[in-house]
Amino acid sequence: LLVESKCSQECKDDLLSSLPRDRGFFAEHLYQYQGFWYTPNLLKGVLYSQKHFQAKDSDIILVSNPKSGTTWLKSLVFALVYRQEFKTPLESHPLLDNNPHTLVPFIEAFDFNAQDTSPRIFSTHIPLGSLPESIKESSCKVVYCCRNPKDAFVSLWHFMKSLFLKDMVGCTMEEMVSGFCRGSSVYGPFWDHALEYWKESQANPKKVFFVMYEEMREKPEECVMRIAEFLGLPFTEREIEDGVLDGIIKLCSLENLSKLEVNTTGKLVNGMETKAFFRKGETGGWRDTLTPLLAEEIDKMTEEKLIGSSFRF
Ligand code: A3P
Repeated sequence: LLVESKCSQECKDDLLSSLPRDRGFFAEHLYQYQGFWYTPNLLKGVLYSQKHFQAKDSDIILVSNPKSGTTWLKSLVFALVYRQEFKTPLESHPLLDNNPHTLVPFIEAFDFNAQDTSPRIFSTHIPLGSLPESIKESSCKVVYCCRNPKDAFVSLWHFMKSLFLKDMVGCTMEEMVSGFCRGSSVYGPFWDHALEYWKESQANPKKVFFVMYEEMREKPEECVMRIAEFLGLPFTEREIEDGVLDGIIKLCSLENLSKLEVNTTGKLVNGMETKAFFRKGETGGWRDTLTPLLAEEIDKMTEEKLIGSSFRF
């Protein structure tokens, strides 16, 4: 509460009233700050972390657009970083009775002081240009997980419906697609978010590692090995022979995590139901939800945003 009231002071109504505003998907408006869109609460978190988050050189920061594989990346990186402390498969691994969001907190959710492990692992949806300065200045490492915009959109739609149905009065999918394409969705524009990190990963490959959700789905072993190498914690041949890598992938699989009690009936400290973070995890699953016309609207925007870039979703 103390933290909350401190933040409220830092994010006074006069700041909100000076920012561009858009309707958003539900009752709350979205505000544009440093080129990206936030609800008032998320914006408070961004401002607070810009001011107070102090990165250490040994920190690992996991970044993503919402609904792009954050929960999965958190579990994989947690399991691979602490694979000596918590061996898999085990009955007593922290991921068996903690949701990945509890083990790897969001820096904009104000609870970054609670992390006392070493190295510390955090996550964020904050766009590159708005990251706290200490993340840019220290030699901490950033892993970015990106997803196809249509699947991320559909995942967001289902997530919003499961969590906020009563607040989304009158918001049709057509309106939500149009907001998403205008860029005004939480932490949007989706494309600018991903492209900025992708460019940074090209310019600064020791600092930012960029991985696609689809690639992780297709070749999890290879992706996890590359993430481990990037973090300076490569798997040894012996570990691979002993099944350590396989154990981590099985432990963190959607099938396994989504069945655990903590992820079926549990709640996060903010009251969110943990089961909302696990759904189908499909590549191309957007076809079940988006009409061809809406899919085309997102595709057009993707095409437009990628002009001049060699990046492809
Ligand atoms: P779908 O809604 O398409 O099923 P985030 O973690 O960024 O909120 O993203 C949520 C998406 O990741 C959801 O996609 C969810 O099912 C999927 N997901 C969650 N845990 C996963 C895991 N362990 N492996 C693969 N996908 C996972």
